[in-house]
This record gives sequence, structure tokens and C-alpha cells, in this order.
Amino acid sequence: MAVRIDGKKMAADIKEELKGEVAALKEKGITCCLAVIQVGDDPASSVYVGNKKKACGYIGIESRSYELPETATEEELLALIERLNLDDQVNAVLCQLPLPAHIDEKRVISAISPEKDVDGFHPQNVGALFTGQPGFVSCTPAGIIQLLKRSGIAISGKNCVVVGRSNIVGKPMALLMLRENATVTICHSHTRNLREICAQADILIVAVGKPRFIDASYIKEGATVIDVGIHRDENRLCGDVKFEEAEPLASFITPVPGGVGPMTIAMLMYNCVEAAKKSGKKE
Ligand code: GUN
Repeated sequence: MAVRIDGKKMAADIKEELKGEVAALKEKGITCCLAVIQVGDDPASSVYVGNKKKACGYIGIESRSYELPETATEEELLALIERLNLDDQVNAVLCQLPLPAHIDEKRVISAISPEKDVDGFHPQNVGALFTGQPGFVSCTPAGIIQLLKRSGIAISGKNCVVVGRSNIVGKPMALLMLRENATVTICHSHTRNLREICAQADILIVAVGKPRFIDASYIKEGATVIDVGIHRDENRLCGDVKFEEAEPLASFITPVPGGVGPMTIAMLMYNCVEAAKKSGKKE
């Protein structure tokens, strides 16, 4: 029977650590300030943005909200980002995704100053991860590395299979596992023999976005199973993994909710503190 990795507790520990750091920075006259942009009022985005602002408040990071209507133009959004890039009082900027269809997401992401890009989505930060240079790392994959390390799970030399190749999770996840010296396979919707490949994994990281897609037949006995999915299924939350089938087989597993999810916000807060430290150094 697997050990359940308690992401909620680990995220709480990280937030406690950051609270102390933010207080110490304040003593030195360095304040942390995150600007959060939301375009339109998608209910899921509103929940995520609300949770981010709440975490900021808890840790002592100032958060500034910029709510643009669904009809806002790309130029208006880019002008706001430019203003925030130039504002010395703001050391972190994020624009909640997805954006309305008439706005070019890639252009918006590239407009955020890489030094303030706490989501780690800017091509400069993605390139830094690719080439092993310092930069902001996407929060969900960074949180998964913390979950593994804080659970005492060795990564070096392990077979790691990442299912999903999004820019936000799958691709950066694979690069981070490679950086930790895992042997990494990335699978996606065109992969042949997905089941057989997953069943070879010592560490299986699932971000396919399909409720309860991975059953027992995809899991090697003793594997670590990390479930990035979150879905509402008959009014209950579930992940991409059939938890009740995976739990008896795995050695470690993340539950949904309470696994990966809370770590994403904890790592966003971590990135905000890093951004403040770096901006403080320049002055
Ligand atoms: N939409 C879904 N996940 C994310 C995220 O991590 N950052 C931003 N900015 N938007 C998102």
C-alpha cells in the first residue's frame, strides 16, 4: 500500500518558511509585491486568482489586482504589462491563463519582463531551464520536484515517464527530472504502447487532463505515482489516475485533492520571494 504524499502539509511548510523570509526581507527594506492580471471573469480563473492573492496575504506579500474586461484589446493588456514591468514597486507579474481567443497568448507571455515572470513561462526562462541556467521555473513542475525530494524519493538514475507535453507542465517537468539525472520518457496522445511504457516507470507523472485515465495496468509495482490532473466527477474531485487501483500497487502516490495542487501556489510564492530578493540586490 502506497504512502500518500501530503502536498497540503508540504505546501503549508513551504509557506511558513517563506513567511519568515518575507519578514526578514522587510527588515532590510525589501518588500515583495505581485501584480495579478485577469482578463474576463472565467469562474475557474477567478478561483485560482483568489487563491493566489490569499496565499500572498498569508505570507506577507503585497498583491495588486488588475481585472480587465473580456473585451479588453491585446494592446491594452500589453500596455498594462509594460507599465508593471517599469514599476519598481512591483517585482512579480502574472497574467492568468487562458486569455480570450482574440488575444495572442504567446505575445502576452513574452511581454512580461523575464525578471518578473514568476510563472516561468517567458521563452527566456524556458530557455534557461533547457540549458541549465538560473531562471524562474514553472510552478507545478517545480512543486512536484519538491514533493519528491521532501518525501525522500531518490530521482537520480530512475526511469521517469511523463505523460503529457504541455508548455506549463509536461515539457518543463521532463527537463527538471533530467536535471535531477532521471532517465526521462515523454508520452503524449500519439504515443504507441503507452500502457507498456508507463508500466516501466519508477516515477510516473501524469498530466493528460482526462479523468481517471490511468488504471492499475499502467503502473509498475512499487512505482511513485504523481497525479497532476484535477476534475469534478459526479460532484467529487478526481485526478488523471484511478486512485483506488493505483494506491495498493504504488510505493508513493499523490492524492487529488491535496497532492500536487497546493504545491503550485506554494512554488509561485517561492518565485515571488526570489523575484523580490533579486530586485532588492539591484538597488
Ligand atoms: N492557468 C492555469 N494554470 C496557470 C498558471 O500556472 N499560471 C497562469 N498564469 N495561468 C494559469
